[in-house]
Amino acid sequence: MDTFGVIGPGAVGSVIGESLHNSGYQVTFLGRSAGEVFVERADMQETAAFPVEAVSEVKKAFDYVFITMKGSQLEGIMPYLDQLTHEDTVCILCQNGYGQLDTFPIPNAYQAIVYISGQKKGNVVTHFRDRILILPENAGTKKLKESIAASNLELQLSSDYRYEVWYKLLVNVAINSVTALSRNTALILQDEKIQKLCKRLIREGIDIAAAEGVYFWTEITDEIMHIYAGYPPYMGTSMYYDMINEQEMEVAYIQGYLYQKSKAYNLDTPCLDTVYSLLLASEMKE
Ligand SMILES: NC(=O)c1ccc[n+]([C@@H]2O[C@H](COP(=O)([O-])OP(=O)(O)OC[C@H]3O[C@@H](n4cnc5c(N)ncnc54)[C@H](OP(=O)(O)O)[C@@H]3O)[C@@H](O)[C@H]2O)c1
Repeated sequence: MDTFGVIGPGAVGSVIGESLHNSGYQVTFLGRSAGEVFVERADMQETAAFPVEAVSEVKKAFDYVFITMKGSQLEGIMPYLDQLTHEDTVCILCQNGYGQLDTFPIPNAYQAIVYISGQKKGNVVTHFRDRILILPENAGTKKLKESIAASNLELQLSSDYRYEVWYKLLVNVAINSVTALSRNTALILQDEKIQKLCKRLIREGIDIAAAEGVYFWTEITDEIMHIYAGYPPYMGTSMYYDMINEQEMEVAYIQGYLYQKSKAYNLDTPCLDTVYSLLLASEMKE
């Protein structure tokens, strides 16, 4: 039977691990240190506990490894990857943004576009909705899909993976930038000036995507603004929470990735350039 490791038992990792565990798969949760993680549903009175092993202590190679910490935390697990993988191990990166794979040392590694909504506080993960991972369609990901077919983790293999990557980047870039920089929740979307700024950030993202050969209809801006309009006013974003908790944000892989592409194609993206500079500046320390 295939073995599964989940490195980073946070909101996304714990939900992936729970999905596999509940369907009888052999899954090991690997955290910074040994302990437990609890997964609770936002809509039900139900909590499940899972043991967590210290990633530095486990000397076992898994067939599949889901890497589910934040992009800014990836460095921390690099020293352990050798001991957790064999030559056929398939690694699935589960971070928002893009570009993480460029520096990743494992050959069979793919980045998932993650549609799982949850939040970790202490060692409790609250799962709000969705269990979807979108991956490029290839022999390795097809095998993974077959292997986990009995679980309720929905693996979608996309023949237009780059479109999916860029769609998620467009969704993330505006809302994460404005909530992190304003240190405020989705409430700020009620302000027309913020709506305009979001639209401009999305349009600049569409131009960058087009330069990369990924094309979106202009209506996509309204579609994404419609998604934002459905967010409850008290909802934060991951960058907002990182900002207010003084944790490193995933700027490099969202705004930073878009900024590097914009510069490479000599595009005029004043809103992106501004938010990217301010986000970087907010993390400057002596
Ligand atoms: N949460 C969502 O709704 C959501 C939705 C879509 C995409 N995403 C993306 O998914 C990724 C993960 O986000 P998340 O919300 O799941 O983050 P999270 O709740 O903070 O979980 C990250 C987990 O990784 C652990 N970790 C960090 N460094 C580690 C290390 N060196 N060794 C072992 N474990 C380590 C953290 O442990 P500690 O608790 O000890 O720090 C934490 O348990 C991010 O890229 C995020 O943007 C999240």
